[in-house]
Amino acid sequence: MRHATEPRFPFADMSRVPYAVFLDEGVYEREQTRIWQGPVWLFLGLEAQIPNPGDYITTYAGDQPVVVDRAEDGSLHAFVNSCAHKGTMVVRYRKGNAGSHTCVYHRWAYDLRGNLVGVPFLRGIEGMSGMPKDFDKRDHGLRKLEVESYRGVVFGSFAPKPEPLRAYLDKPILDFLDRLFARPIEVIGHRRQRFHANWKQYYENYGDGYHGGLLHELAATFGLHRATQGGSRIPDKRGRHAAAWVDAESDSAEIVRQGYRDVSFAKSFDQRLKLDDLAVFGWQDEVGDGQSVRTCAVFPSALFAQVGNVLETEQIRPKSATEFELYWTYFGYQDESADLRRRRFQQANMVGPAGYNNMEDGEASILEMRGIRRRGSEHTVLEMGGRGPIAREDGHARLSETVVRGFWRYYAELMGYRPARSPRRARRRR
Ligand SMILES: [Fe+2]
Repeated sequence: MRHATEPRFPFADMSRVPYAVFLDEGVYEREQTRIWQGPVWLFLGLEAQIPNPGDYITTYAGDQPVVVDRAEDGSLHAFVNSCAHKGTMVVRYRKGNAGSHTCVYHRWAYDLRGNLVGVPFLRGIEGMSGMPKDFDKRDHGLRKLEVESYRGVVFGSFAPKPEPLRAYLDKPILDFLDRLFARPIEVIGHRRQRFHANWKQYYENYGDGYHGGLLHELAATFGLHRATQGGSRIPDKRGRHAAAWVDAESDSAEIVRQGYRDVSFAKSFDQRLKLDDLAVFGWQDEVGDGQSVRTCAVFPSALFAQVGNVLETEQIRPKSATEFELYWTYFGYQDESADLRRRRFQQANMVGPAGYNNMEDGEASILEMRGIRRRGSEHTVLEMGGRGPIAREDGHARLSETVVRGFWRYYAELMGYRPARSPRRARRRR
């Protein structure tokens, strides 16, 4: 199914996004080829999930099922979880340990590198039947991905020669991962959820600081996010990823009062309203820099985050133009105290499908999708923080959609959508 007319980004600074890119199955198919199987690195999982030889997890790269495992020599491998014989999904479990992977249908077996090593009745019985003499198992392995890991975070790419992972992630993301994965980690749980929305609507949410202190009313009221808090937002040099943080104590009561003057729920800042139990918001500053929320979004599918004391990764798994799955992985450090681990679990009530904070992000994407059904020829408006260049922002970086425009610029580049020129826009700077 091809889209009849190509979605059109009317302005070069990507301050308008055509709704068609969220609705059209033709666009979705093109994304699978040009983005998900294109020159990008896709977040697959954490090495801590597969510490020992033979350990494996099943996951997704775009909408393709993938196995990630660790071979006998400790090396990491990833391949499409689809048998070379009939395409059957080979590994059916979420995780495990195995010496090889065998398809249940005709028992074709693959080694931990995805090479075909066993075909039952290859030579038939008593000289009859079997595969043709020239059938070579080496021609029938599972489709392999390039795999690289940074700080124990595993990425895969379908591109035959992708740029090195470190170059792809670039300094802001490398610095972020250096800090988040500074010590050996332990995975403590997963959650997942299906959404009737487009995957890009959720990815936009990662770079959208603007909504944080507005959509998330409970968090805004009781102190985890306020739009008036300061912070920074740093794109990589191509503007396709972004790292961001919130400085928890950077706003005064007066700034909050002024800032929220026009916000409908601001009456809840009434000082008489208090929660009896603040455990879910009981952030303890582990590093001592006052940064209560730190996130980094890696194009096209991943978020790495510290939300209070919750440490987590999120992986976007697209299913169709109008459906995706989100997969959360929670972790702590191996050497942390029992008290801190308890805090992580308690605060995990913020993050995830039913999280006091996160469920609203999902709901926002769903509401967007419901609203745009017949607006395919129109556009979103991305102007908070100004138009024009996509650059580092400090201070009130929360009130910004700038890095979201960076996502769209790289998206359009990979999709081959040339934004229209608009001299009028270029002149009308903020
Ligand atoms: Fe949010």
